[in-house]
Amino acid sequence: MTDHLPQRVRVERRAVSEEESRQANGPDWDRYADEYQATHGGFLGNTGFVWGPEGLTEEEAGVLGDVDGRDVLELGSGAGQCSRWVRVRGGRSFGLDLSARQLQHSKRIDEESGIAVPSVRGTATALPYAGASFDVVFCSFGAMQFIADLEAAVGEVARVLRPGGRFAFSVTHPTRWSFPDDPSEAGLTATSSYWDRTPYVEVDDDSGQVSYVEHHRTLGDWVGVLARHDFRIVALVEPEWPEGHDRVWGGWSRVRGRLTPGTAVFAADLAS
Ligand SMILES: C[S@@+](CC[C@H](N)C(=O)[O-])C[C@H]1O[C@@H](n2cnc3c(N)ncnc32)[C@H](O)[C@@H]1O
Repeated sequence: MTDHLPQRVRVERRAVSEEESRQANGPDWDRYADEYQATHGGFLGNTGFVWGPEGLTEEEAGVLGDVDGRDVLELGSGAGQCSRWVRVRGGRSFGLDLSARQLQHSKRIDEESGIAVPSVRGTATALPYAGASFDVVFCSFGAMQFIADLEAAVGEVARVLRPGGRFAFSVTHPTRWSFPDDPSEAGLTATSSYWDRTPYVEVDDDSGQVSYVEHHRTLGDWVGVLARHDFRIVALVEPEWPEGHDRVWGGWSRVRGRLTPGTAVFAADLAS
Protein backbone atom coordinates (compact mmCIF):
# COMPACT_ATOMS: atom_id res chain seq x y z
CA MET A 1 0.00 0.00 0.00
CA THR A 2 2.81 2.40 0.74
CA ASP A 3 6.37 3.31 -0.16
CA HIS A 4 7.08 5.29 2.98
CA LEU A 5 7.34 2.72 5.77
CA PRO A 6 9.27 4.54 8.53
CA GLN A 7 11.96 2.80 10.56
CA ARG A 8 10.12 1.54 13.62
CA VAL A 9 6.58 0.51 12.80
CA ARG A 10 4.72 -2.77 12.85
CA VAL A 11 2.02 -3.58 10.36
CA GLU A 12 -1.39 -4.77 11.52
CA ARG A 13 -4.80 -5.37 10.02
CA ARG A 14 -7.52 -4.08 12.33
CA ALA A 15 -10.53 -1.78 12.56
CA VAL A 16 -9.79 1.95 12.94
CA SER A 17 -12.22 4.84 13.31
CA GLU A 18 -12.40 7.92 11.10
CA GLU A 19 -10.84 10.03 13.85
CA GLU A 20 -7.99 7.57 14.35
CA SER A 21 -7.37 7.45 10.59
CA ARG A 22 -7.18 11.23 10.40
CA GLN A 23 -5.02 11.60 13.48
CA ALA A 24 -2.56 9.10 12.02
CA ASN A 25 -2.55 10.17 8.38
CA GLY A 26 -2.25 13.96 8.82
CA PRO A 27 1.03 13.75 10.77
CA ASP A 28 2.21 10.85 8.60
CA TRP A 29 1.87 12.97 5.47
CA ASP A 30 3.57 15.86 7.28
CA ARG A 31 6.56 13.61 8.00
CA TYR A 32 6.61 12.10 4.51
CA ALA A 33 5.83 15.19 2.39
CA ASP A 34 9.44 16.32 1.76
CA GLU A 35 10.51 12.86 0.62
CA TYR A 36 7.31 12.37 -1.41
CA GLN A 37 7.80 15.62 -3.32
CA ALA A 38 11.55 15.02 -3.79
CA THR A 39 10.92 11.50 -5.11
CA HIS A 40 7.77 11.98 -7.17
CA GLY A 41 7.59 15.73 -7.83
CA GLY A 42 9.45 15.47 -11.15
CA PHE A 43 7.15 12.69 -12.36
CA LEU A 44 4.02 14.59 -11.27
CA GLY A 45 5.21 17.89 -12.83
CA ASN A 46 4.46 21.25 -11.21
CA THR A 47 1.56 21.80 -13.59
CA GLY A 48 0.99 18.17 -14.53
CA PHE A 49 -2.00 15.91 -13.95
CA VAL A 50 -1.35 12.20 -13.62
CA TRP A 51 -3.94 9.78 -12.26
CA GLY A 52 -1.43 7.29 -10.83
CA PRO A 53 1.93 5.52 -11.07
CA GLU A 54 1.18 4.28 -14.62
CA GLY A 55 1.49 7.92 -15.71
CA LEU A 56 -1.94 8.17 -17.33
CA THR A 57 -2.53 11.91 -17.72
CA GLU A 58 -5.84 13.74 -17.61
CA GLU A 59 -4.96 14.97 -21.10
CA GLU A 60 -5.19 11.32 -22.22
CA ALA A 61 -8.02 10.18 -19.97
CA GLY A 62 -10.32 13.19 -20.26
CA VAL A 63 -12.48 12.07 -17.35
CA LEU A 64 -13.04 15.55 -15.88
CA GLY A 65 -14.59 16.93 -19.04
CA ASP A 66 -13.92 20.52 -20.09
CA VAL A 67 -12.72 22.48 -17.05
CA ASP A 68 -12.56 25.90 -18.71
CA GLY A 69 -14.60 28.37 -16.66
CA ARG A 70 -15.57 25.67 -14.14
CA ASP A 71 -15.34 25.73 -10.35
CA VAL A 72 -13.20 22.75 -9.41
CA LEU A 73 -12.23 21.25 -6.04
CA GLU A 74 -9.35 18.82 -5.50
CA LEU A 75 -9.46 16.59 -2.40
CA GLY A 76 -6.15 15.39 -1.00
CA SER A 77 -4.53 17.97 -3.25
CA GLY A 78 -0.98 17.53 -1.89
CA ALA A 79 1.28 20.04 -3.64
CA GLY A 80 -1.54 21.01 -6.00
CA GLN A 81 0.02 19.79 -9.25
CA CYS A 82 -3.29 18.58 -10.72
CA SER A 83 -5.15 21.71 -9.67
CA ARG A 84 -2.48 23.84 -11.34
CA TRP A 85 -3.06 21.84 -14.57
CA VAL A 86 -6.76 22.77 -14.25
CA ARG A 87 -5.89 26.46 -13.70
CA VAL A 88 -3.72 26.49 -16.85
CA ARG A 89 -6.81 25.27 -18.73
CA GLY A 90 -9.04 28.03 -17.42
CA GLY A 91 -10.64 26.26 -14.44
CA ARG A 92 -11.02 27.89 -11.03
CA SER A 93 -9.48 25.08 -8.99
CA PHE A 94 -9.07 24.92 -5.23
CA GLY A 95 -7.17 22.46 -3.06
CA LEU A 96 -7.91 20.78 0.26
CA ASP A 97 -5.52 18.53 2.14
CA LEU A 98 -5.07 17.10 5.61
CA SER A 99 -1.32 17.74 5.71
CA ALA A 100 0.11 21.19 6.47
CA ARG A 101 3.49 20.18 5.04
CA GLN A 102 1.96 19.06 1.75
CA LEU A 103 0.23 22.44 1.57
CA GLN A 104 3.53 24.21 2.22
CA HIS A 105 4.91 22.42 -0.84
CA SER A 106 1.84 23.57 -2.74
CA LYS A 107 2.56 27.17 -1.75
CA ARG A 108 6.22 26.75 -2.75
CA ILE A 109 5.25 25.55 -6.22
CA ASP A 110 2.61 28.32 -6.50
CA GLU A 111 5.44 30.81 -6.08
CA GLU A 112 7.90 28.98 -8.35
CA SER A 113 5.40 28.49 -11.16
CA GLY A 114 3.41 31.70 -10.82
CA ILE A 115 0.21 29.62 -10.90
CA ALA A 116 -1.44 29.71 -7.48
CA VAL A 117 -3.97 27.18 -6.24
CA PRO A 118 -5.89 28.60 -3.23
CA SER A 119 -5.83 25.73 -0.76
CA VAL A 120 -7.01 24.95 2.75
CA ARG A 121 -6.16 22.41 5.39
CA GLY A 122 -9.11 20.14 6.09
CA THR A 123 -10.57 16.70 5.71
CA ALA A 124 -12.59 15.32 2.85
CA THR A 125 -15.19 14.11 5.36
CA ALA A 126 -16.19 17.68 6.41
CA LEU A 127 -15.77 20.14 3.55
CA PRO A 128 -15.64 23.83 4.48
CA TYR A 129 -17.75 24.96 1.49
CA ALA A 130 -21.38 25.89 0.92
CA GLY A 131 -23.63 23.44 -0.94
CA ALA A 132 -23.63 23.46 -4.74
CA SER A 133 -20.32 25.39 -4.98
CA PHE A 134 -18.47 23.28 -7.58
CA ASP A 135 -18.93 21.85 -11.05
CA VAL A 136 -16.19 19.26 -10.62
CA VAL A 137 -14.67 17.53 -7.58
CA PHE A 138 -11.68 15.28 -8.13
CA CYS A 139 -9.05 13.39 -6.22
CA SER A 140 -5.90 11.80 -7.68
CA PHE A 141 -4.83 9.16 -5.16
CA GLY A 142 -5.83 11.78 -2.58
CA ALA A 143 -8.11 11.31 0.34
CA MET A 144 -10.46 8.50 -0.72
CA GLN A 145 -8.44 5.47 0.38
CA PHE A 146 -7.36 7.10 3.62
CA ILE A 147 -10.89 7.63 4.90
CA ALA A 148 -12.81 5.32 7.24
CA ASP A 149 -16.14 7.12 6.87
CA LEU A 150 -16.57 6.88 3.12
CA GLU A 151 -20.34 7.58 3.33
CA ALA A 152 -19.53 10.97 4.91
CA ALA A 153 -16.91 11.80 2.28
CA VAL A 154 -19.04 10.90 -0.75
CA GLY A 155 -22.01 12.63 0.92
CA GLU A 156 -19.90 15.77 1.23
CA VAL A 157 -18.87 15.60 -2.42
CA ALA A 158 -22.55 15.29 -3.41
CA ARG A 159 -23.42 18.26 -1.19
CA VAL A 160 -20.79 20.66 -2.61
CA LEU A 161 -21.35 19.66 -6.25
CA ARG A 162 -23.94 21.42 -8.38
CA PRO A 163 -26.64 19.21 -9.91
CA GLY A 164 -25.14 17.23 -12.80
CA GLY A 165 -21.60 17.92 -11.50
CA ARG A 166 -18.77 15.44 -11.98
CA PHE A 167 -16.86 13.52 -9.33
CA ALA A 168 -13.67 11.74 -10.50
CA PHE A 169 -11.12 9.98 -8.34
CA SER A 170 -8.31 7.47 -8.54
CA VAL A 171 -7.50 4.82 -5.94
CA THR A 172 -5.37 1.73 -5.71
CA HIS A 173 -7.21 -0.80 -7.87
CA PRO A 174 -9.38 -2.86 -5.50
CA THR A 175 -7.99 -6.16 -6.84
CA ARG A 176 -4.53 -5.15 -5.52
CA TRP A 177 -5.66 -5.65 -1.93
CA SER A 178 -5.21 -9.44 -2.16
CA PHE A 179 -1.55 -9.12 -3.14
CA PRO A 180 1.55 -8.11 -1.16
CA ASP A 181 2.64 -4.52 -1.84
CA ASP A 182 5.79 -5.67 -3.59
CA PRO A 183 6.87 -4.52 -7.07
CA SER A 184 8.71 -7.80 -7.79
CA GLU A 185 7.37 -11.24 -8.77
CA ALA A 186 6.61 -11.75 -5.07
CA GLY A 187 3.79 -9.25 -5.55
CA LEU A 188 2.04 -11.50 -8.05
CA THR A 189 0.77 -14.13 -5.64
CA ALA A 190 -2.49 -13.44 -3.80
CA THR A 191 -2.01 -13.78 -0.06
CA SER A 192 -5.18 -12.31 1.45
CA SER A 193 -8.87 -12.06 0.71
CA TYR A 194 -10.16 -9.42 -1.72
CA TRP A 195 -13.32 -9.26 0.43
CA ASP A 196 -11.51 -8.57 3.71
CA ARG A 197 -12.06 -4.84 4.33
CA THR A 198 -10.01 -4.78 7.55
CA PRO A 199 -7.80 -1.68 7.21
CA TYR A 200 -4.02 -1.75 6.73
CA VAL A 201 -2.52 -0.13 9.83
CA GLU A 202 1.02 0.86 10.80
CA VAL A 203 1.67 1.22 14.52
CA ASP A 204 4.65 3.15 15.88
CA ASP A 205 6.76 0.71 17.90
CA ASP A 206 7.91 3.31 20.42
CA SER A 207 4.61 5.07 21.19
CA GLY A 208 2.12 2.31 20.32
CA GLN A 209 0.14 4.95 18.35
CA VAL A 210 -1.44 4.25 14.99
CA SER A 211 0.83 6.10 12.54
CA TYR A 212 -0.69 5.33 9.12
CA VAL A 213 -3.94 3.82 7.82
CA GLU A 214 -5.31 2.72 4.46
CA HIS A 215 -8.85 1.52 3.83
CA HIS A 216 -9.98 -0.96 1.23
CA ARG A 217 -13.22 -1.12 -0.73
CA THR A 218 -14.19 -3.68 -3.32
CA LEU A 219 -15.42 -2.60 -6.74
CA GLY A 220 -18.95 -3.32 -5.54
CA ASP A 221 -18.45 -1.08 -2.49
CA TRP A 222 -17.47 1.84 -4.75
CA VAL A 223 -20.46 1.30 -7.03
CA GLY A 224 -22.74 1.10 -3.97
CA VAL A 225 -21.54 4.25 -2.24
CA LEU A 226 -21.76 6.28 -5.44
CA ALA A 227 -25.28 5.01 -6.16
CA ARG A 228 -26.46 5.76 -2.61
CA HIS A 229 -25.43 9.41 -3.05
CA ASP A 230 -27.22 9.84 -6.40
CA PHE A 231 -24.20 9.44 -8.67
CA ARG A 232 -24.28 7.67 -12.03
CA ILE A 233 -20.94 6.12 -13.00
CA VAL A 234 -19.83 7.28 -16.45
CA ALA A 235 -16.35 5.74 -16.58
CA LEU A 236 -14.10 3.27 -14.82
CA VAL A 237 -10.62 3.62 -16.31
CA GLU A 238 -8.04 0.92 -15.55
CA PRO A 239 -4.77 2.31 -16.95
CA GLU A 240 -2.56 -0.24 -18.71
CA TRP A 241 1.16 -0.21 -18.03
CA PRO A 242 2.68 1.76 -20.94
CA GLU A 243 5.48 0.46 -23.16
CA GLY A 244 8.84 1.87 -22.10
CA HIS A 245 7.62 2.94 -18.65
CA ASP A 246 10.04 1.48 -16.12
CA ARG A 247 9.42 3.63 -13.08
CA VAL A 248 8.82 1.79 -9.80
CA TRP A 249 6.50 3.50 -7.30
CA GLY A 250 5.92 1.51 -4.12
CA GLY A 251 4.27 -1.73 -5.24
CA TRP A 252 3.71 -0.44 -8.79
CA SER A 253 6.12 -1.70 -11.44
CA ARG A 254 6.30 -3.00 -14.98
CA VAL A 255 6.57 -6.57 -13.59
CA ARG A 256 3.13 -6.31 -12.02
CA GLY A 257 1.60 -3.65 -14.22
CA ARG A 258 1.84 -5.69 -17.42
CA LEU A 259 -0.33 -8.41 -15.78
CA THR A 260 -2.72 -6.75 -13.34
CA PRO A 261 -4.27 -3.28 -12.91
CA GLY A 262 -2.74 -1.06 -10.22
CA THR A 263 -5.06 1.93 -10.44
CA ALA A 264 -8.80 2.49 -10.83
CA VAL A 265 -10.13 5.87 -11.97
CA PHE A 266 -13.85 6.36 -11.38
CA ALA A 267 -15.90 9.15 -12.91
CA ALA A 268 -19.51 9.73 -11.89
CA ASP A 269 -22.14 12.43 -12.41
CA LEU A 270 -24.47 13.69 -9.73
CA ALA A 271 -28.13 13.53 -10.65
CA SER A 272 -29.42 16.79 -12.22
C1 LIG B 1 -0.80 10.06 -2.31
S1 LIG B 1 -1.00 11.74 -1.80
C2 LIG B 1 -1.67 12.40 -3.28
C3 LIG B 1 -1.51 13.88 -3.38
C4 LIG B 1 -1.73 14.43 -4.78
N1 LIG B 1 -3.06 14.20 -5.24
C5 LIG B 1 -0.68 13.84 -5.70
O1 LIG B 1 -1.06 13.24 -6.71
O2 LIG B 1 0.50 13.99 -5.40
C6 LIG B 1 -2.44 11.64 -0.72
C7 LIG B 1 -2.83 12.98 -0.10
O3 LIG B 1 -4.11 12.81 0.55
C8 LIG B 1 -4.09 13.58 1.74
N2 LIG B 1 -5.14 13.07 2.65
C9 LIG B 1 -5.15 11.92 3.36
N3 LIG B 1 -6.29 11.81 4.06
C10 LIG B 1 -7.02 12.92 3.79
C11 LIG B 1 -8.29 13.39 4.23
N4 LIG B 1 -9.04 12.70 5.09
N5 LIG B 1 -8.76 14.56 3.74
C12 LIG B 1 -7.99 15.29 2.87
N6 LIG B 1 -6.77 14.89 2.43
C13 LIG B 1 -6.29 13.71 2.88
C14 LIG B 1 -2.66 13.42 2.25
O4 LIG B 1 -2.32 14.42 3.18
C15 LIG B 1 -1.85 13.47 0.96
O5 LIG B 1 -1.44 14.78 0.65
